[in-house]
Amino acid sequence: MTRVAGKVVAITGAARGLGRSHAVRLAEEGADVIVLDVGDDAVRSDLDETARLVEKAGRRVVVKQADVRDRAALGQAVDEAVASLGRLDVVIPNAGINPIGPGRPVSAFADTIDVNLAGTINTVHAALPHLTEGGSIILMGSVAGLMPRYDGTGASGPGGAGYAFSKKMVAEYGDWLAVQLAPSGTRVNVVHPTNVPTKLIENDAYWKTFRPDLEKPTAADVEGIYKAIHGIPIAYLEAADVSHLIVYLASDESRYVTGQQLKIDAGLLGKLAAGYMPGMS
Ligand SMILES: NC(=O)c1ccc[n+]([C@@H]2O[C@H](COP(=O)([O-])OP(=O)(O)OC[C@H]3O[C@@H](n4cnc5c(N)ncnc54)[C@H](O)[C@@H]3O)[C@@H](O)[C@H]2O)c1
Repeated sequence: MTRVAGKVVAITGAARGLGRSHAVRLAEEGADVIVLDVGDDAVRSDLDETARLVEKAGRRVVVKQADVRDRAALGQAVDEAVASLGRLDVVIPNAGINPIGPGRPVSAFADTIDVNLAGTINTVHAALPHLTEGGSIILMGSVAGLMPRYDGTGASGPGGAGYAFSKKMVAEYGDWLAVQLAPSGTRVNVVHPTNVPTKLIENDAYWKTFRPDLEKPTAADVEGIYKAIHGIPIAYLEAADVSHLIVYLASDESRYVTGQQLKIDAGLLGKLAAGYMPGMS
């Protein structure tokens, strides 16, 4: 269990969900971890739980609270954490929101772009002065960023449109950044997962988007739709499925892999490209 031994990794949105899963999996493979998330008390107790799991795996952890929209605060948090752990090899701008659903104000579009796109760029900029030669930047995209454009005119609303737009721009940003950083040996790749059952998608508004015909849909009501959209007939990935790919991209096993858009989508995008339309069997 030493695929990233000696490396230091910084992860935003590490209090729960995919960020926590990446932190723990990387620690199990020998990395020390800087875990960052927003600054409220509920998040603090979740961050402390992530930290406890990293330490349980035998690695060092530094906990920092900063909003990814606040470039100055984020920069200070990263500077302090790197000073404490001595180096930075990998950064994962993972924090994200998805305020999907109709009837929201247009500010949902702007807020989502601020967190998912500007927050990603702020995190990269905070990390760049510290990244070691041959470092790895792993951006969090989504299948939503590689699908045909949907603009929230339907059930997804302005927040859903902001989500798709931000992930498309993160994908594009990754392509351009990879070219800029290649001469220094620093790699940039974008990971595009399909559904993982985290709070991001396990909520009433998300379920309602898929089942507007029901007054109060639940996870059970959308499972059949989720299974139908994937080539491999599953409703969800597990968080660890994504974290395994993250470990590979963080490790030297992928030292010449850069500028890639890596889908982990159970065949969803291939099925769409082959002409599948939701509602078809
Ligand atoms: N869950 C999925 O199905 C899925 C699929 C594709 C991509 N993703 C991406 O994975 C990433 C993680 O999502 P998740 O599913 O774990 O969601 P989650 O809601 O469980 O976790 C998101 C984390 O980001 C943090 N965060 C939100 N706004 C922040 C801000 N302004 N500053 C700092 N931290 C902030 C939250 O506090 C939370 O801890 C996101 O970028 C998301 O778009 C998720």
